[in-house]
Amino acid sequence: MVSDVRSGAPLARRRFLAGVAGLAAAPLLPLRSSAQATPQSALVEARLTARPASAQLVPSEYPSTAVWAYNGEVPGPVLRLRQGDRLRVRVENHLDQGTTVHWHGIRLPNAMDGVPELTQPPIAPGESFVYDFTLPDAGTFFYHPHSRSYEQVARGLAGALIVDERAPIEADRDEVWVLGDWRLDRDASIRAGFGAFMDVSHNGRVGNTVTINGKVPEAFRVRAGERIRLRLINAASARIFGLDFHGHRPMVIALDGQPVEPHAPAGGAVVLAPAQRADVVIDMLGAPGSRHAVHDGFYPRLEYRLVDIVYADEPPLRTKPLTAPIRLPANPLAEPDLARAERHAIALSGGMMGSMGGLPRGKAWAMNGMSKGCGEGVAVFDPLLILRRGRSYVLELVNDTAWHHPMHWHGHSFRVISRNARPTAHREWLDTVLLAPQERAEIAFVADNPGEWMLHCHVLDHQAGGMAACLRVT
Ligand code: C2O
Ligand code: CU
Repeated sequence: MVSDVRSGAPLARRRFLAGVAGLAAAPLLPLRSSAQATPQSALVEARLTARPASAQLVPSEYPSTAVWAYNGEVPGPVLRLRQGDRLRVRVENHLDQGTTVHWHGIRLPNAMDGVPELTQPPIAPGESFVYDFTLPDAGTFFYHPHSRSYEQVARGLAGALIVDERAPIEADRDEVWVLGDWRLDRDASIRAGFGAFMDVSHNGRVGNTVTINGKVPEAFRVRAGERIRLRLINAASARIFGLDFHGHRPMVIALDGQPVEPHAPAGGAVVLAPAQRADVVIDMLGAPGSRHAVHDGFYPRLEYRLVDIVYADEPPLRTKPLTAPIRLPANPLAEPDLARAERHAIALSGGMMGSMGGLPRGKAWAMNGMSKGCGEGVAVFDPLLILRRGRSYVLELVNDTAWHHPMHWHGHSFRVISRNARPTAHREWLDTVLLAPQERAEIAFVADNPGEWMLHCHVLDHQAGGMAACLRVT
């Protein structure tokens, strides 16, 4: 039963039945569960070692790059499980500074959330920590450190965590693109200066070299007629992508791991802020032998070609596109009761061309006027809000700045119900919502996961610069 762990990581997959009764009955059950039987969960074990490594990010005529990596790979190994499985990961720290791993978007117990000092002490150099949790939702997730993340992520620590549906939709291929962004010098080494105030107070550490799965890509090879489910993960510390698949019509089927009504992206481009994910289905309807650019045009006047979709000369796999449904089954999320929800507003302020006056030294951003931070480096735990377990909430996030902020709420997913007071078309579930300059968005959720959870900007320099707070669910 190792077939669906498609990772190079040393993963051992064991099957077991949940519960004592299940164990006792195990020998009597058929090997493959029938449609009526309770689907079996597996325990998947993995090991991640964070350590310095070298990676050939740029074409081979240039030198390789000294990076920090999980298991020596950039990005880290793809951890792949099925919905309901349990993941147990031993993380070893071979860096010379403390680290943790955060399982971004997974609704897990607070103690497994990987926020240093808030949910665990940082894993000291030479030490290890075992994360152990089940995966309630199918979808595209990722993992990354939460200690000095503006440095550790920018040096290469991040990897995909894919949770397959029990019955996946039909596609010829399921591909993962981990998008990375690096600030390199001419010799391909990573430029230092992490946490520079210039980055903290502006766009964050946007780099100069974009990679897909750890390489500056040339070609994405496809065959005419095939249907590809493409899982896009923005693992960059600051760069926002707006991907235009020229000549193709991607259909968005999930955002931040959560199914959404299948739709073509508004404006044609798939926009992904740091930490956001999108699952898209693309029918490869180009001609055999043809070539089509994928452009990233998010930043005006800085458009560039990311990669080419290159069709093989082979005849099409099929003459008509697949008609199989692409709608995904919903994950088990509690539906917020909007009529009874308690409402709060959270104002984001600061940044260059904004109100930085009065902020503590080194801080450039504030939430409701305060730069409290949360977890790492924060002596006193002081939640911005205390939420009652089981209650519905609507938080209005108000961006009073001249900058983009992808705001991430830990331990929960939320529906985006409005933007600038207009209802959203898809009421999408997200865990990270991008706010444009001066934009406001209402998010709604049931506070059903007890603990101390961060709400922060995922431009990692902004997070360090004060755009981070704790919310308690009690
Ligand atoms: Cu992906 Cu608090 O982070
Ligand atoms: Cu921000």
